[in-house]
Formats: sequence, C-alpha cells, structure tokens
Amino acid sequence: MFNYFRKKLFNRMFLQQHLFKIYHNVFIKKNIKDLFDNGYSIYGKKFPFKDINLNKYLNHSDYNFDVDRKKIEMVDLKKIYTVLFEMGVISLIKDYLGSKIYCYDNTIFTLGNKICNKDSMQPHHDSKFRRIKIYIWLNDKDINTHPLYYLRKTHKQIKNWDNYEETRFPNLDKKKFDSIYGEKGSIIFFDTHGIHSHFKSTKIPRSVVELTFEPYGFLNRLNKKNIKSEITRLNLIDLDKLINLKKN
Ligand SMILES: [Fe+2]
Repeated sequence: MFNYFRKKLFNRMFLQQHLFKIYHNVFIKKNIKDLFDNGYSIYGKKFPFKDINLNKYLNHSDYNFDVDRKKIEMVDLKKIYTVLFEMGVISLIKDYLGSKIYCYDNTIFTLGNKICNKDSMQPHHDSKFRRIKIYIWLNDKDINTHPLYYLRKTHKQIKNWDNYEETRFPNLDKKKFDSIYGEKGSIIFFDTHGIHSHFKSTKIPRSVVELTFEPYGFLNRLNKKNIKSEITRLNLIDLDKLINLKKN
C-alpha cells in the first residue's frame, strides 16, 4: 500500500508538475502567460513562407483518409526551425519547457475527408508528461474545417494513468472545448499534457506543419536513463543542433 502511494505521488511526473507550477508562478514571464494559464496560445506573428516551399508535402491524389502525416525532409526542416528561431518562437518554448529540448514528429499533418472518432481524434492527453506541440497552419481560415480542440487549463491537472484507455476521454462534451482555427501562417502552441482533440465530424481537408518539443532533465520523461533508446525510437533531434546553436 505504502509503495503504491509512493509510486503514484513521488514519481518523476508528480514532482515535475509541482515544480513547473511553482517555477512559473514565481518567474511568470509575460510572453508565455497565455500558454501557462490556458495550455495553448497563438503567436502574435505569422510564419513567413517566402523561402520555404512545402507544396510537395501537400500533393495528395485524393483525400479519402482521416489523417495523414508526411515526414519533412531535413533541408526544409532546418529552414523552418531557423525562421522560428529568428521570430522568437524557440526562446518562448524554452521559457516554458527549459533550455535543453529535443524535437520530433516534424511532419506535415493533413486531415482528409473521412470522419473519425478514434485514436488521436478522441479527446486525450499525450501521456508524455509536459511538452509542446506547435501547428503552423497551412490553409486559409475556414470554420467548416476541423479545428484544434483544447480543454482549457487541463494541462495543470495532476494526472496518473496506467494504460491507454485512461488517457482517452471520449465522453467529454465538445462544447466545453475551445475550438482553435488558424489562418495561413498562424503558429499555435499547445501543451500536450492538457486534454485536446475531439471527434472529427467535418470533411474538408486542411494541413498543418506539426512540430513537437520535449524537455530533457532529471525530472522529465526524457532523462539520462532513457535518452539513448528514445532518440532511436522517436527519432529525436537536439533542438540546439538543428538551429546551429551547438556543433555536434
Ligand atoms: Fe495528442
């Protein structure tokens, strides 16, 4: 019994959650206030696509699918991250997560014309502790497309889960969620520890650049013990290397 509570209450995630709140309450920074308070925010500036052509990732012969992901090639990825760095997006993510960060996913994420009520289209948290996803919206604003659904403030809840089912919340009312629609170039941040997503009931395709940022350190999910295997498993890239702040 004691062991059960010790495991539940004094695990890495539990300590990380408390420290996160204390740290951000004491050192509250204006630029991440929205993100800290609500779990998501939309960046004040739009992403400029001028030297970056993503058309090859947006060519689909048809849209008869619910979701599709295409890996972004390194040459394009470097350009995207460099622009994000120059815009101040990277420093904002570091203010929120800490300075040592790995990034992954790095895909063009497209929703097709099929409706969907399962997997990532169910309300859920990502069961990866605290981390940030950003979506760079690639379509004009259209409220008939599927938005990002986010249940405000749930990123601050202490969560425990033992299996996949405990990370899904299919019975939560969609009306309680914020519906976040981007327009071309909008940069949307959200903390994947909060409850997000909902059933896809719309059939109009739309695409985003999807990038995921996860912190490394003693209290984090990514730490000394698992970093080697996680780099291989998830194809993690050291953020500072990607934007050339660090050589090798
Ligand atoms: Fe998710």
